[in-house]
Amino acid sequence: MRTTWTFHSAGQLVFGPGAVTQLGELVRPWQLERALLVTDRALVAAGLVEQVEAPLREVGIEVVRFDDGAPEPALALAETCIRAAREARADLVVGLGGGSNLDLAKITATVLAHGGTVRDYVGDGRVPGPIVPLVCLPTTAGTGSEVTAASVLTDTDAQVKVGILSNFLRPKLALVDPRLTLSCPPKVTADSGIDALTHAIEAFTAVDNATFPLPPEERTVYQGRHPLADCLAEKAISLVGANLTKAVRDGRDLAAREAMSLGATLAGLAFSNVGVALVHAMEYPVGGAVHCSHGAGNGLLLPFVMRFNMTARRPEMARIATLLGENTTGLGERVAAEAAIVAVERLKREIGIPERLRDLGVEREQLSGFAEKAFAIKRILRVNPREVTLEDVLAIYESAW
Ligand SMILES: NC(=O)c1ccc[n+]([C@@H]2O[C@H](COP(=O)([O-])OP(=O)(O)OC[C@H]3O[C@@H](n4cnc5c(N)ncnc54)[C@H](O)[C@@H]3O)[C@@H](O)[C@H]2O)c1
Ligand SMILES: [Zn+2]
Repeated sequence: MRTTWTFHSAGQLVFGPGAVTQLGELVRPWQLERALLVTDRALVAAGLVEQVEAPLREVGIEVVRFDDGAPEPALALAETCIRAAREARADLVVGLGGGSNLDLAKITATVLAHGGTVRDYVGDGRVPGPIVPLVCLPTTAGTGSEVTAASVLTDTDAQVKVGILSNFLRPKLALVDPRLTLSCPPKVTADSGIDALTHAIEAFTAVDNATFPLPPEERTVYQGRHPLADCLAEKAISLVGANLTKAVRDGRDLAAREAMSLGATLAGLAFSNVGVALVHAMEYPVGGAVHCSHGAGNGLLLPFVMRFNMTARRPEMARIATLLGENTTGLGERVAAEAAIVAVERLKREIGIPERLRDLGVEREQLSGFAEKAFAIKRILRVNPREVTLEDVLAIYESAW
């Protein structure tokens, strides 16, 4: 039985519309000279890259641009980015983008500091010490990667997503400027937004910290559910519930964008301490095989996993229903808890997340292979509030197919 919990975040978090203009002043005291800016061409075209380069140059930092970032980045792309950082002799790494670019920036700052190759760090707790100073600026409201301890990459050989997890990966500065998300296209807004909701719901319904089943010889950044993370997750669920559809329908709605940026960052703070659970474990093989976005895969699976976890977390599910705006007054706990699933299903429809795995191009014959891969991701499965067997995982895939 555990009796203590901890909380980790980015070194500094600066939040608000226009925050990007402060970037130069925020990093000036670090006395660095050459930044590698990890980004992609869509963000160059959207005019966001210039907004980040200008304040850095103003304080005398030379900026080398790596704009080959791509969604769900492969291990090989990370190696390319690391080469670019070495050639640039970067002493600062800046990630600008959705989770994909931020994760690329995180692994780049890691390998730049400690040498070797990306594969040396795959897993939990394999980063030996602090990484090269890292700033992350999210342009989606989704992953929370700007504050989290993870870099998620795609192992294209094994067709599965892999994670590098270490508290050393948390950026020195997370600069969250909701204006950077205004140009985010509707599908990316929808997919990344429901990823944020998944983070918050998985953290809020996770196994308790006190009974977190970590074998004594193992170390992990995850520690199960605790009261500080609960506050953050609850707020994130209500922010996403009230604003995601608005942000998808009208991308220029700054109030909705700001609420989504806050929700996503809070969800990131919650899950990166508590852990994500069965939805994420089940999404990794799906995403690895059919190359759907991480958010679309998670959003699709979320209500099916909530149903499976219902018996272990009924009061929390009832609370989620209220947080998502359902009127649960006078309803018994069981009915109120069911309303959470109804609310998530409605949100999915409103924002266009596919209903079934077959809609993503998954073949039924693939499900047993997926189940084996998901069942092997023990670092995530142990966060789930209900113990899971291989047969359970397959049955949930079947129900979602
Ligand atoms: N590190 C973590 O803690 C963590 C957590 C969850 C997910 N992830 C990972 O993050 C990735 C998904 O990230 P994501 O959902 O943010 O999407 P993304 O980074 O994959 O971006 C998707 C697309 O949207 C474009 N885009 C993003 N912002 C834009 C903007 N403001 N204007 C115009 N175009 C924009 C990008 O150029 C890209 O083509 C996955 O690889 C996932 O596994 C990481
Ligand atoms: Zn996620």
